[in-house]
Amino acid sequence: MRVIGTISELQALADRECAAGAKLALVPTMGALHAGHLSLVNEARKRADQVWVSIFVNPTQFEDAAGASRYPRSWEEDLQCCREAGVDVVFAPECDEMARPLRQTSIEVGEVAEPLCGRSRPGHFHAVATVVAKLLLAAKPHLAFFGEKDYQQLAVIRCMVRDLGFDVEIVGVPIVREVDGLALSSRNVRLHPEARRQAVALVRALDAAEAAVVSGERGAARILQQARAEIDKAPLAQIDYVELRDAESLGPVADGLVNPTLLALAVWFDSPDRGVPESDSPERGPRDRGAREAVRLIDNRVLDPRCATSLRSHPATAG
Ligand code: PAJ
Repeated sequence: MRVIGTISELQALADRECAAGAKLALVPTMGALHAGHLSLVNEARKRADQVWVSIFVNPTQFEDAAGASRYPRSWEEDLQCCREAGVDVVFAPECDEMARPLRQTSIEVGEVAEPLCGRSRPGHFHAVATVVAKLLLAAKPHLAFFGEKDYQQLAVIRCMVRDLGFDVEIVGVPIVREVDGLALSSRNVRLHPEARRQAVALVRALDAAEAAVVSGERGAARILQQARAEIDKAPLAQIDYVELRDAESLGPVADGLVNPTLLALAVWFDSPDRGVPESDSPERGPRDRGAREAVRLIDNRVLDPRCATSLRSHPATAG
């Protein structure tokens, strides 16, 4: 397995491998690799001759420098993980190679990047689209793999690739979950044990909403209410958003569900040591919580009113 740090070296290798007829797959990550990332690698293995993983904690996609520096890092373990998974190349650029030179140029994706996390984290998808564009130009892959766990991120990247005519196929990979249903995330390690226990409320909310659709419910408000009720059972949870969106465009949906509809959740989990956040107090909202650290988790599921018999609890489980 090769470890490469510069764009020029990666591009040269991509050119050589392409000339030799190899089909290249890229799996962009920010490291702290877990079974969710590895499922992308495994899918890539099936579809390409070579799997390249990028590991870069992109500072521009965090709200502030503290957010980026708090992000978990496990370089040696990540390398070992990649070796064991049969990764061919790890691209691990320094900040000076990737983020800092982008002083004047960036990519702005429109409506699909605006709701949900786009509203909660202004500028986030702008930064993600820009760094992913740069990674695609650096690795020149035929295929690039992204998790459905970050459903809106996948939609934003698909949109960018389509609009700008990138010569790459974007492949979405199903969410990998813990045995209790919590979606794997690098942020889970930052949860207080009690918050971790309560975080299962997310998947319960998705299950409840899906069960409602399966039993014939089509009212958006009532489906949302089912989901919210599950989250409200967790005292450490504070909802950022619980929304239904068109699964394709991420546009708003009418009250009677007809088409595949995304149920997207973002929920803050506080630590019991710091007390329960006051959800109705704007000056103590989750984004202004100062020294109090809470962890924001996202999850989602596509509800399909057209084939409402496919209630599946936890399709892909880690381990
Ligand atoms: P990161 O959070 O490291 O995630 C890398 C990829 O792994 C993403 O495509 C994400 O959706 C996928 N992933 C994470 N958890 C998953 C799970 N439980 N099941 C399936 N896939 C999962 O997403 C990013 O990095 C960055 O924004 C990046 C695209 C690398 C740009 O900086």
